[in-house]
Amino acid sequence: MKAIVYESYGAPDVLQLKEVEKPVPKENEILIRIHAATVTSGDCRVRSLNMPFGFGLIARLFLGVSRPRRQVLGTELAGAIEAVGGGVSKFNVGDRVFAFSGMGMGCHAEYKCMSEDAAVVLTPDNLTDEQAAAMSFGGTTALDFFRRAKLQPGERVLVNGASGAVGTAAVQLARHFGAEVTGVCSTTNMELVRSLGATHVIDYRHEDFTQKGETYDVIVDTVGTAPFSRSQNSLKEGGRLLLVLAGLPDMLPIPWVQMTSSKKIIAGPAAERVEDLLFLATLAETGAFEPVIDRHYPFAQIADAHRYVDSGRKIGNVIVTL
Ligand SMILES: NC(=O)c1ccc[n+]([C@@H]2O[C@H](COP(=O)([O-])OP(=O)(O)OC[C@H]3O[C@@H](n4cnc5c(N)ncnc54)[C@H](OP(=O)(O)O)[C@@H]3O)[C@@H](O)[C@H]2O)c1
Repeated sequence: MKAIVYESYGAPDVLQLKEVEKPVPKENEILIRIHAATVTSGDCRVRSLNMPFGFGLIARLFLGVSRPRRQVLGTELAGAIEAVGGGVSKFNVGDRVFAFSGMGMGCHAEYKCMSEDAAVVLTPDNLTDEQAAAMSFGGTTALDFFRRAKLQPGERVLVNGASGAVGTAAVQLARHFGAEVTGVCSTTNMELVRSLGATHVIDYRHEDFTQKGETYDVIVDTVGTAPFSRSQNSLKEGGRLLLVLAGLPDMLPIPWVQMTSSKKIIAGPAAERVEDLLFLATLAETGAFEPVIDRHYPFAQIADAHRYVDSGRKIGNVIVTL
């Protein structure tokens, strides 16, 4: 089968289209023929080892010190089941599925085997493979952070970076949970963010949300420009700051803030749970959640997709089609 392989860390030029061995499903595994995948900010970080400040060494130890241990990127996919292992009972050949392999990666290939108990679920009939492929990365991240924040209906939520993969999911999900949402984005994305459910939109190029005198129960920072030192006066008493992107210096104050104030900082990697995929699929079926899609690239031009995602300017999700 064809796969996009990277054998060293670096710029998008390290990505090569190669012939590799097609996987064979084990007893409890399904073999998925991949129709669509995404290139996420996470793929680009892992490819380039451009990690939040202070996490470079840890990332190298985890991913491979001198060269990548897992050489096929890609954290989310959609496709159809081509074969199943003898012990599989949850899925059948021909089922349309979408999946989140997370740090297991391996979705930038024609086929992938996954355990039937992994984060893989049936694709709702009303979703295309492209839409289904873009459900998981932003959606599960936003869901996990809101769960850890114990978001309540009626709370005021500000999403900094509301036009990215995590931001577009966070705006829709916060709205779904009954919060009043403020999105922070640039002028060109204001209409989009409003259409996703934000009641208020702040253009970060012209206004600084921390200087407006407004306060929020929950602030979600997907950009890394709203650490506690900058956001604390914009948090209500009991407010939670969700640092989706945080360097080590942003995380060091967490215990001190916890001990000395009613406010809380929540950071760290989001959980990868099959229940969250099922929840997102249910919302997508009713139209309450729709992944935002920016550009599509053919599989063979995946390096161009990486270059675009590297720019930091993508809107929602970038799709690769196989
Ligand atoms: N903790 C975790 O488990 C976890 C999980 C997923 C992702 N992440 C991290 O979260 C971050 C966000 O991921 P993502 O995939 O959502 O990113 P993304 O889609 O690449 O974000 C791009 C968006 O950010 C906007 N943006 C750039 N600078 C901005 C600013 N100063 N203020 C407001 N918006 C700005 C851009 O809009 P304009 O072009 O209009 O500026 C663009 O639409 C990444 O660093 C990723 O590594 C962490």
